[in-house]
Parts: sequence; C-alpha cells; structure tokens
Amino acid sequence: MNYYLFAKFGYITELIKDYTQEQTYNGTRNIKVYIWNGGILDCITLLCSEITVTEFLWNALHQAVVGIPDMRKSPFMSNPEKNIFSQYSAPTTAKCVAAIDFGTSGTGFAYAFPPSNGEIDPKSDIFQNGEWPDGTTGKTKTALLLDDENKFVAFGRSAQMMYKPLALKEKGKFFQFFKMDLYTQEIDGELQIKAQDGKSLPVKIVFAESLKFIRNCKLLSCPTPLAFQKLKLFLHIAVKFCMTGNSARIPAVLLKQIRSTSYRIAPDEIKWVLTVPTIWGDAAKQIMSEAANMAGLGTDGGHDLLLALEAEAASLWCLKSGNIRMNDGNQYMVVDAGGGTVDVLSLFVLFGYGRFATACEDAVLSKRSCSITSILVAPANGGSWGSSTIDQRVFKLLEDIFGKDRFEATKKDINGYIKLQEDVESSKCRFDGNTDVILVLPNVLTGVLGIDHYPTANSAVEAYSEATKIDFVIKGSNLLIPAKYFREQLMGPIIKITVQHVSTIIKKCDQVRHVILVGNFANCTMLQEEIQLAVSSKDIKVIIPNCPGEAVMKGAVLFGINPGVVVERVSRFTYGVNLSKPFDQALHPQEKLKLTKDGRAYCVGVFDTLVRAGQPLVLGYTVERTYEAMENDQKQITFRIYSSPRPDPKFIDDFKAKEIGTVTIRVSQQREM
Ligand SMILES: Nc1ncnc2c1ncn2[C@@H]1O[C@H](COP(=O)(O)OP(=O)(O)OP(=O)(O)O)[C@@H](O)[C@H]1O
Ligand SMILES: [Mg+2]
Repeated sequence: MNYYLFAKFGYITELIKDYTQEQTYNGTRNIKVYIWNGGILDCITLLCSEITVTEFLWNALHQAVVGIPDMRKSPFMSNPEKNIFSQYSAPTTAKCVAAIDFGTSGTGFAYAFPPSNGEIDPKSDIFQNGEWPDGTTGKTKTALLLDDENKFVAFGRSAQMMYKPLALKEKGKFFQFFKMDLYTQEIDGELQIKAQDGKSLPVKIVFAESLKFIRNCKLLSCPTPLAFQKLKLFLHIAVKFCMTGNSARIPAVLLKQIRSTSYRIAPDEIKWVLTVPTIWGDAAKQIMSEAANMAGLGTDGGHDLLLALEAEAASLWCLKSGNIRMNDGNQYMVVDAGGGTVDVLSLFVLFGYGRFATACEDAVLSKRSCSITSILVAPANGGSWGSSTIDQRVFKLLEDIFGKDRFEATKKDINGYIKLQEDVESSKCRFDGNTDVILVLPNVLTGVLGIDHYPTANSAVEAYSEATKIDFVIKGSNLLIPAKYFREQLMGPIIKITVQHVSTIIKKCDQVRHVILVGNFANCTMLQEEIQLAVSSKDIKVIIPNCPGEAVMKGAVLFGINPGVVVERVSRFTYGVNLSKPFDQALHPQEKLKLTKDGRAYCVGVFDTLVRAGQPLVLGYTVERTYEAMENDQKQITFRIYSSPRPDPKFIDDFKAKEIGTVTIRVSQQREM
C-alpha cells in the first residue's frame, strides 16, 4: 500500500491503511484498524460483539463520525510522569516542527506537533518520515535525478533506480555524495556540483531541488492531531452504527464533514530545521540556508528556517530520549560518525534540578522533573573520515589492481559503476572482521578493453597479489579480498583516524566520562570496538543509542522546539570586522597606510576582533563597539565581517582569514556612530 497515494488527496479517511478482524475467546470480534500515523503504522482496536466484519463495515468505516478513546498506545501517553522535559521545552508557536537530516549518504526527516504549552515527549511525540516513494523507510539515499532541462525527476533510492535506464540512453543528471563538496571544495558563489556523468550544475540548484522534494513529501504525509481526533470519532461511530444494524445510513452531513477535513498542515504552520555538520564553515552553512530558502523552507510566510548542528542535535536526542544516563555536571563527548564526516563535540551537561536517569528499554522515566542544558566545552571538531571514505579506499584498490585507465572506463559505464558502489557499500556494512569479502566487478573492469597493458583481469590480479604478497583471488567477475586486508588496510586506517582524534580530544577534555557514538557508521562493530579499546584505560563509558542513525533528525526536532537548549558554545573561529586605525609606525606596515582627505594617516585592513576562536559564547552574548567614520563627510560605513581560524589575526588579509559578509550602516551624525 502506498501511503503517498492516500496522501494525495489529503482527506483524513485516506489515513486508513487496512483492517483485520479476529475472533476473541468469548465470541466477540476485535477489529484492528491500521492507520497511517505520522511516520508509523498505528493500530486502533475496536471491540465489536456479534457483528460480521465485511466490506459493508469497511464502507461504513469510511462514512461515519463520533468519538473513540485515545488511540495512541505508547506507554508514555498514559504515563502520568510523561513529559518530564516539559519545563525545559519552551512553548513554540509553530504547529509543526519538522527537521531534515540531509546526510552525505542518507536523508530523512522527523517532525512533531508541539502543543501550545510546548510539552513534548521525545519518545512518543516525534515521528519519523514514513515510507519513501521507493518503498524504503528511515533514511533514503541522498541522490537526485534531474532531466536534461534540469527539471526534477526523483530523489532518493528511486532517483538511482530511475537513472539506470536513462544512463543507457545518456540522458538525465544524477547527483550523489554532493554534500561533501561543501566541505572539501573552496566555496564561492560559482561552486558547481558534478553529476555522475560529469555534467555539472550550481550547488544551490542541486540542494534546492532535493530539499523541495522533501518539503513536499512532508506536506503530503503530515497528519495533524486534529485530523486524528476526527478520525477517531469517525471510526467509533462507524462501529456503533454497525452494531445497531444501522450501518447503511451514515448521516450525510457527517459524511460531508469528514470528507472535507484535510489533514494537511499549512506550509506557514511549519517550522523547518535543517541539520548541518558541526564542523562546516560559515560559507557552507550559508549556501545550505539559501538553497533551503530557494526550496521554500522558511520562506512561506511562516517561521524562519533554523539550522541545527548535527552532533549537537544528536546529543540532545540522546539526553532527552533517555537513551543515555547522565548525572548533573557530567562531561561527555558526542561522535557523529556518518557517511561523509565524523563530527566530534565535547559537552557539559547541566540539569536544572533533580536527577536525570532514564532507561529507554523498559520505558521508565525519571522520578523527578528536570531540565537539561548543555554547554560546549571545546570547539566542534572532526573531519572527512566518514564511512564513505572506506568505499573510496576500495575503489583505489581496484584502480591499483586493474589500472587507472580501466577504472576510469568503469566509471563511464554508469550502471556498472553504480552497481559496484552498492556492492562495495553493502560488503562493508556486512563485514564481520573475519570473513573474506567478495566483490562482484562490472564487466568493464574485468573484461579486456585493450586500453591498458594487462591482457586479462586474472593476470592483473595475479601481478598485484605477487607485488603486495596479499592473496587476492579472481574467478570470473568475483574478486576475493582477504578479510585481514579488508580489516587492516581498507577499514582500519579510516577508523584509526577517528579513534586517534577522539583520544586526542579526551586528553584535552579530561573530564569526559562518556563517549556517545551516533550516526549510521556507529553501527560498525570495528569502530565501536576500537573506540572502546582506546578509552578502556580511562573511566569512560562508550554509549551507542538505539538506532544511532536517527539521533540527528530527532534531536533536530527537539532543537527546533527549543533552540535555547545549548546555552553556551565555544567559537570555532575568530570573528571581526575590517577597521582603519590611526597609523602607528611601530605596529603597522607601510603598504597599509592611507591618508584621509584632510591628511590624517590611517592603517587600513586591521582585523578588529569581536569574538576569538576558542572563546565560550553564552546564548544571547552581544559585543558592543563604537566606531568612527574615517572621512568627515562620510554618509555610510560598510563593515566587512571576517572569520579566521587563528585566535589573533592582525589584518584581514592574514593567512586563511575570509570575508563572510558585509553590513552597511548609514552615518547620521558625522564622525561618530
Ligand atoms: N556496519 C557498518 N559499517 C560501516 N559503515 C556503515 C555501517 N552501517 C552504515 N554504515 C555507513 O554509514 C554511512 C551512513 O551514515 P549516516 O546516515 O549517519 O551518514 P550521513 O548522515 O548520510 O552522512 P554525514 O552525516 O556525514 O553527512 C554510510 O556510508 C554507510 O555505508
Ligand atoms: Mg549525518
């Protein structure tokens, strides 16, 4: 059953997916009505004594309206101690908070309907996206397919599937792994992203088209609590009518009402949150934000778009969902190991009062209310050592074995190459550390092309095995990579970078007592074991929450509901403005000397620091400065805002200082503002 078809019309009756009936021991019947409830398949059980459930009831179910008891079965819903975080979640005016985790490998979204008092139970009130059009749930592949006129065709796994026949006809533009370009490429307004076949498009278009699709998905499949209330009423009266033998006659007025009740939430009622890697620079975040605006997120007259830092969001989810136990004052580290990057954050947890102790497995919540606040104790850090870099190492191995020319030719056989990518990724995810890996290679790689000096694939593998003294084996198109080599040479080095990085940070932040591993790469047992090993000599616990890949998107919803949750951060960069200062021969280089119209000497291009790298910044922190216009008749001053990774840049043209924006201020009173 395709939920999206239901969702097309937006009527609440379309939320019903299916029903089943079962006979109980005393002869009554239970009817289970399965409904599409915000990303999960929910079930309402209706007790119907003595009636036969037929298509007749099914039709009746579609035609009635009255009330039934609360249908949500989560233990938290009936738990009087639910919403222990309510005091912390500041009320939000948005009816719906929706967060997109736009990952390098996978993309998903989650949402919640915060009630007017802002109370939210993280475990039962946040819904993950339901089925994607390609039938997958959870995260889908971050992949975009556009046609030759750059019109949207598909996003996700379906983009990959639909691209295969198009690639044969040399049509379409297929993009994947493009999020990494914002980290690895020099960012300017012209940054282009390369499609699989080498054609390229401006970065913002690729992001905007992807986000637009998700935005529309969201609106189609997002049932409001009001719609559910009506659906409950509707189902209940249907049963009542059936039980009193009246099922044929459903009051027309009710029927009309139910038919016209849309469950869609209006675009301006949604507050959108978009996640970005914690280690991204400001320019990358700016591009993401502009692309999101182009996609209509935060620009439809409602709430502004909010960017959430991925590791920070994950941390929030782990703390609030009860996935981890922490005490007041604990320092912990969040390692978000994804497909593209590994982001590391060190935080300090503050609880408003009382104790925070939850256990997600048995759904027991803390006995006392508390609020959670986090303080970042070190600047965010990490790097591009996500799991997809393991895939890159496998491709490099194939290139080394079969030759660069032949590997390049394989890339041009797009279908073969996509299949190879899938095979490499699934082999990596399944790898248990001890079983040899078998890759099925595309024909272009194993066949004789006559473009390199190896006559056959067999001799290429033999030659490489001999040179490296590793027993690679090829039979037909199957290449065997010994487990030891896969473990130590392909996965090991990437995992080692993360582990070394975590160890270094722990040395600096020696109060850290927990390492929380999130992101789907956290599912990798080798990574888990290596991190465990690295911290074993210290009193540090490694925690992997259930479904580590969902932590970012669900945490981002929590962040959207209350962005004030991280009360203090540490600045990664030094920020400042360009300033002209009275010239001082001892301090200022001659080439920066500039004379004003009336002959006063100034040094131009001074980096006037407003915030220093490594400086703790409390939420709401402001910097106040007074500046004077250089010229007496100056009508406006343009401040160029710069960032630098260095703590004490002297001039705006210092190494690595970058202009990140400008602010122009009209000067009302001359010489002073
Ligand atoms: N058991 C496993 N072993 C190794 N890698 C794995 C395993 N399970 C999943 N992965 C990898 O995790 C990556 C996806 O993780 P995730 O969804 O957290 O990344 P992302 O959010 O798309 O990327 P990023 O956060 O870096 O932008 C993929 O590269 C996938 O191959
Ligand atoms: Mg991620």
